Amino acid sequence: MAKIVVENKIDNFNKVIYVDGDKSLSIRSLLIGSQSYGICKINNLPKSEDIMSTIAGLQKLGVKISLQGNTCSVYGKGLNSFNFKKYICINAGNSGTFARLLLGLLIKTPNFIKITGDKSLSQRDFQRVITPLSEFGASFYNNNRAKLPLKILGSEYIKPINYFEKRGSAQCKSSVMFAALNSPGTTIIKAKKSRDHTEIFFKYLKLPINIIRNKNFDIIKIKGEVQFKSFNYDIPGDISSSAFFIIMTLLSTNSKLKIKNVNLNPSRIGFINIANKMGAKIKILNKKNRYGEIIGDIFVKSQSKLKAINCPSSMNSNAIDEFLIIFLIAAKAYGVSNFKNLGELNKKESPRLKLGSKILNKMGIKTVQKKNSIKIFGNPKLSIQKDIVIKNFYKDHRIFMTSVIAALCFGGKWVIHDVDSHKSSFPSFMNLLKKIGSKYTLI
Ligand code: S3P
Repeated sequence: MAKIVVENKIDNFNKVIYVDGDKSLSIRSLLIGSQSYGICKINNLPKSEDIMSTIAGLQKLGVKISLQGNTCSVYGKGLNSFNFKKYICINAGNSGTFARLLLGLLIKTPNFIKITGDKSLSQRDFQRVITPLSEFGASFYNNNRAKLPLKILGSEYIKPINYFEKRGSAQCKSSVMFAALNSPGTTIIKAKKSRDHTEIFFKYLKLPINIIRNKNFDIIKIKGEVQFKSFNYDIPGDISSSAFFIIMTLLSTNSKLKIKNVNLNPSRIGFINIANKMGAKIKILNKKNRYGEIIGDIFVKSQSKLKAINCPSSMNSNAIDEFLIIFLIAAKAYGVSNFKNLGELNKKESPRLKLGSKILNKMGIKTVQKKNSIKIFGNPKLSIQKDIVIKNFYKDHRIFMTSVIAALCFGGKWVIHDVDSHKSSFPSFMNLLKKIGSKYTLI
């Protein structure tokens, strides 16, 4: 796989861009579409690897899906309508969201289905969904590893469950919500706050869902076995992809950036709140409501005076995919930043807390990293003069993109391996870098 060489900081820029469609909403719209009755038209679906794995997996399960340009048609045949050959194997690639959410839809499968994934996904924990889905009545065969590859066998005798989601994981919550669709009676979930796209989607489709929102936990009740009709959906830009360019603008000099048509769900914009607490002035413009989600534009300017943060753990869940890039703000901020209760970061596509700390150290930034926390000793005058090589990062898309942004903002000569890794979530990343004016070479 190619490497990228970055040896020039980015020049001042003033641009307007669009980013690829949101990954969480794309996977949900495809999976929910597969359970609806009729033809769903989904627009602005990103051509990222995670989305292609989702489409290929659903096609193996017998769902007709066609792609014309940016529009995807999903031919739903109703709840539990998968129709496939006896022994199939679905490769989820790099996508934890696809693998974990799909398992929720398979609790009635009459034949074994094997789920595999790439090297990174095969190291991630699946016990977190195996436990609740087993309670519904599904069986799992996985040599006691709780990791992929695993096999699921459904049951005719499914019963609804009461489930307490304590991690703040939207994947676990959504997997159980999907299983609830196929269960008789009412499933009750008490869930620590996490992104709420599945809840919003179910409400938009008028499924029988009831949500009581409390400060830290939500109570979600879903009545199962209720068929629903197909829908059309426009996928907004991905706020997690936008984050790389927002923080790049913040950390460069005399630059401005507007990103249009982005999903601004409050459970996803934690990094904007954290950055603004650190001295950024990131603005949200033209907010509107679409299908229950908030969509709008983001405007950001470079900011030279940034201050450290003692980040409250209550802000973690809403920023869970953005901590690597938040660590770059802390690297340039005045003072010592403190981030705690972040053990989940080491369970992502790579051990991000550990690797994030290592990258900062390579940049000359002191850190104290423990199992669940990190202290970052910021340096407002940070200017890197040396060579930095970034490799062996499990091809984690976010490690790759964070490293490129660090190189463009802080200088030095960086060689970053595994360029293709960005394609799992953000295929336009390299083109947008060029559009904004960055110089790099591929070797
Ligand atoms: C996601 C939930 C998060 C996030 C992932 C996408 C989702 O994972 O890290 O990139 O779409 O539900 P967890 O639920 O494991 O925190």
